[in-house]
Amino acid sequence: MELNPLFNLDAIPARPEPTGLLYGEDVLSVAQFDRDKIDYIFTRANEMREMVKRVGKFDLIPDKVAACIFYEPSTRTSSSFIAAMQRLGGSVIPITSGVSFSSVSKGETLGDTMRVLEQYADVVVLRHPEVGAAKEAASAASVPVINAGDGPGEHPTQALLDLFTIQDELGQIDGLKIAMLGDLRYGRTVHSLTKLLLQYDVQLRYVSPEVLRLPMNLMNRVIDSGRNVRETYSLADVIRDVDVLYVTRVQKERFSDLSQYEQVKNFYEITPEVMEEAKEKMIVMHPLPRVGEIPESLDSDPRAAYFRQAQNGMYVRMALLAGVLGRA
Ligand code: CP
Repeated sequence: MELNPLFNLDAIPARPEPTGLLYGEDVLSVAQFDRDKIDYIFTRANEMREMVKRVGKFDLIPDKVAACIFYEPSTRTSSSFIAAMQRLGGSVIPITSGVSFSSVSKGETLGDTMRVLEQYADVVVLRHPEVGAAKEAASAASVPVINAGDGPGEHPTQALLDLFTIQDELGQIDGLKIAMLGDLRYGRTVHSLTKLLLQYDVQLRYVSPEVLRLPMNLMNRVIDSGRNVRETYSLADVIRDVDVLYVTRVQKERFSDLSQYEQVKNFYEITPEVMEEAKEKMIVMHPLPRVGEIPESLDSDPRAAYFRQAQNGMYVRMALLAGVLGRA
């Protein structure tokens, strides 16, 4: 076909050849990431942070489009993926304010939704309430699919940004004692982070009420890994000697029996008084949103790392997007 002479193709630089360890990959589970890949992502994420600090926004993927489709509410994950694309010079199809405005509300299947989105986008970011939905979407789509949380299943990009934050704040991961507290049963961030941490030499402490204990199959994996691990319902048992306290909210939306939720919803509160017991260099993390387990009065404590953690999410997601699109 003859092109309009106004399209001067000779003046347009050729697209760079795709490159990098992650090119073309779906991001579905933390099981995909060994330590080499994690180090690679962290190096790229540090570069992204440096570039954002220096120039704010830069054209690494100006020719790329991401479709962000969220079947569950989100503030951090959706907005940090969108910001990540924009800071890399790319564009976004945002279906994040409720799929009720998309054809999903007319009964379109997840597979068909993917087969259509891939006609417009180079990568799909998906949050869905069902475990395994991201895998199903990836098998329908020929472009990379990034799991932005599948029900109580996994949240791999959150786990990577959590791990990045631990490394960034404390300068190491090996050798640390890490406590996870709150809703360990339904908290997908806890499940994903636990699996990633099994690649490191860490001690693990799980703090929850009985009904919110870590699922048995995951606890068995931790035990089989040979890590030093303890479970308790008492924060006082761990607060003095952990390096990281990873707090989660109790996930009301996952309870079928709301009276059970009422019994455990205010089980823990990390107040400034509680923090008096903690190490001077300990950090408090939270994937957010918080709903009472950390009061705002803690925010001025330099050990409160949760907003820095949220910011790190953008750098890690920039690294992942650039990676799967072959521009890392
Ligand atoms: N941490 C996290 O997944 O937050 P959102 O639900 O706001 O995306």
